Amino acid sequence: MSFDLVLFGGTGDLAWRKLMPALFQAFRHGTLPAGGRIIGVAREALDDASYRALIRQRFDDVEHAKRPTADDFERFAELLHYQRMDLSAPADYAGLATRLRERQADCVVMYLATAPGLFTTVCEQIAAAGLNEARTRLVLEKPLGHDLASNRSINQAVRRVLDERQIFRIDHYLGKPSVQNLFALRFGNALFEPLWRREHVANIQITIAEELGVERRGGFYEGTGALRDMVQNHALQLLCAVAMEPPINAHADAIRDEKLKVLRALKPWTPALLDTHAVRGQYTAGSVQGTPVRGYREEDGVDPASRTETFVALRAEVASWRWAGVPFYIRTGKRLPARDAHIVVNFREAPHPIFQTPAGACNRLVIHLQPRDGLELHLLAQAHENRAAAQALAPAQLDLDFDKRFGAERVGAYERLLLDVIDGRLNLFVRADEQEEAWRWVEPLLAHWRQDTRGPRPYAAGTWGPSASSALVARDGACWAEES
Ligand code: BG6
Repeated sequence: MSFDLVLFGGTGDLAWRKLMPALFQAFRHGTLPAGGRIIGVAREALDDASYRALIRQRFDDVEHAKRPTADDFERFAELLHYQRMDLSAPADYAGLATRLRERQADCVVMYLATAPGLFTTVCEQIAAAGLNEARTRLVLEKPLGHDLASNRSINQAVRRVLDERQIFRIDHYLGKPSVQNLFALRFGNALFEPLWRREHVANIQITIAEELGVERRGGFYEGTGALRDMVQNHALQLLCAVAMEPPINAHADAIRDEKLKVLRALKPWTPALLDTHAVRGQYTAGSVQGTPVRGYREEDGVDPASRTETFVALRAEVASWRWAGVPFYIRTGKRLPARDAHIVVNFREAPHPIFQTPAGACNRLVIHLQPRDGLELHLLAQAHENRAAAQALAPAQLDLDFDKRFGAERVGAYERLLLDVIDGRLNLFVRADEQEEAWRWVEPLLAHWRQDTRGPRPYAAGTWGPSASSALVARDGACWAEES
């Protein structure tokens, strides 16, 4: 399979921070098909040699472990090429077309790692230059719009020039090995399926916590906020993976049909729920892992009176036979105490207790997504030293660490997703209707927060968000994992 990968935004942040390192890893692992070209596209006046030098220098800013040796980079750099383009100039697309027709690669991947405002123009120009061929695949990075209407208009523009099966919408959470393991746990094992329902599950909690603040993206984040940045996409995709029915097979549309059903079944927001089932927060100065950090309003590019949320906690429900009445709590935020993403499935208490159990203890499955990738099954057991209280049980847990178990170097999210695009596998990409449904669900909340002058609740950096987040789950008699 020969490929040409055209990277629009080839000198941008995403290209050198995520995509180039991922392509390099695939190259190093020997999984990148031989005979490919990676063509960076940007406005700067560079040639192949200076583009290679730029990427080489940027690799030095990437995590130490991923830095290539000079030899490795030399070999990888042979794949790198550069095409200078003004994305609004038709003649420049004609130049790109000539370059792509120099050789008839089996597939041409157009990766739009540019500002979303350019997506529509680029698609139109790609079509005008006759580049929307059967061998073309288009990769779209989030954010795909900032609300339902803008998302729809991008999707319509893209589908005017390409077929849905040629469109790869990235949600990089779906490429994480731990999320693959969640699918494996649910649909490759029969063990949990009978328990995976309202009769046995008390509640489900999805947490995506970040230690980082907004870094150098203050300007972008200010117009975005955590609901659009993390909930509409990553968190809802995780919710789908947990709540969906088993698909009839492992094909892309079978999986995406089931995810879509979950999104459609999300209980709509009512005016009362908007206040009681959603909490937004914004970090103030504090300390994360012992390092003092400034507050969100002091970050570069941020309005000193900003009302943008950096933390969201929600209580959602999936209105279906399987899940009716089971709370799904979603929580995500920046400047929380640790980088920690996990899903907790809290099972109901034993129906007829004959032992004494510690208050609040129940069976719980914790699916760790990052930084570690593993499973913990919390059980109650008779501790040996407990002879005096033979009827008292103590918590104990089974612990499976996938990194230890499978040892070998893991394939990162972008590496996996880029290889899937080249292979034409759509399983881990988001279909337009899923995306639109997710926007439809978050829109009332976006509108409510826009006109609610109370703004987000402050929380000190390095804490688990505003106390209202704990109160949200406490109302159901539950608590977040770190509070139990
Ligand atoms: C991105 C968000 O989609 O995901 C960022 O725009 C966020 O704000 C990032 O930091 C988190 O991804 P990961 O893989 O580091 O958890």
